[in-house]
Amino acid sequence: MAKIISFISEKGGVGKTTTVYHIAVGLRLFHDVNVLVIDTDYQRGGLTCRLRPEMLENFRLGDVPHVTLYHAYRALYSGQDVLPVTVLPAKKDKIDLVPADPRLNSISVDKMPPTNNLRDNNRMIMRHLTLIRDCLERLVGANRPYDFVLIDSHPDLYDLEKAVIYASDYCVSPVKLDAQSAIGVPSTIEAIKNVDADVKAVGSLLGLLPGYKDTVFLGAIGMMCREWGGGLKYSETITYNRLKRTTGIFDTYITEGDGIRWAAEQGCSVYDISGVNAEKQAEQFRQLINELLSKL
Ligand SMILES: Nc1ncnc2c1ncn2[C@@H]1O[C@H](COP(=O)(O)OP(=O)(O)OP(=O)(O)O)[C@@H](O)[C@H]1O
Ligand SMILES: [Mg+2]
Repeated sequence: MAKIISFISEKGGVGKTTTVYHIAVGLRLFHDVNVLVIDTDYQRGGLTCRLRPEMLENFRLGDVPHVTLYHAYRALYSGQDVLPVTVLPAKKDKIDLVPADPRLNSISVDKMPPTNNLRDNNRMIMRHLTLIRDCLERLVGANRPYDFVLIDSHPDLYDLEKAVIYASDYCVSPVKLDAQSAIGVPSTIEAIKNVDADVKAVGSLLGLLPGYKDTVFLGAIGMMCREWGGGLKYSETITYNRLKRTTGIFDTYITEGDGIRWAAEQGCSVYDISGVNAEKQAEQFRQLINELLSKL
């Protein structure tokens, strides 16, 4: 079974999509492994549009012409079985993709059909929580031997993100090293703890627990960091050290710079861009991937 890693923060614009994309491409390029990415960001679909630029218009019009997680949830709401979602085969980046769907904004456990007994209600809540994992288990079968599944998320910690956390073996939280963004790290850890505690409480009541393992938080990842004199700027060092002591943060961070911006503009990764800044960021991502692999 593939290792499933999600990238979560309730804070927007901290670099989640950039991190997922560059780790996915880097794993493929430098470690020759098979990678599937799942885009659950229904608002931007940034990863989907990066890997499949031709889907930008579909996404904008709310008309994704594939069976997505939205359809899987809709099937669940009408009492049907788990629906196999579409995997779009790799194009230039050699990464397979389960695309985002703007209609995922309507996902809520409140849409589960009501029942009049407590056990069935709890069973429904669990089915909502486990749906993404259930879909993944169908995808990551023997004929699709992925080594890694990376999940990008919307900046929230509601029902859809809880299902992402449940589906994940590991979770990381990209962060900008300022006090406001850093709040996203402890709240991610809190959300993971809540999902694990809910699963234990409800799962044991219903006899549904065999094989469940808690989602492991691997640490925050410093993104768009600013340096001065060869190290982090003073204010960022303070935030970095605080996260190191409290939530944990990767040693490797990615500096703010034009390489990543330029790559985004060109629709490619920073590994494909020349120039001192891009090469520095590419090297940082290589190191970040090595550190990530050492933690699994
Ligand atoms: N190291 C960096 N240097 C410069 N720009 C960066 C860097 N990392 C990310 N960016 C830019 O910052 C913006 C936000 O990044 P990104 O979209 O990855 O964040 P996000 O957390 O996924 O946002 P959202 O919560 O809206 O999905 C993007 O325009 C991206 O190109
Ligand atoms: Mg994003």
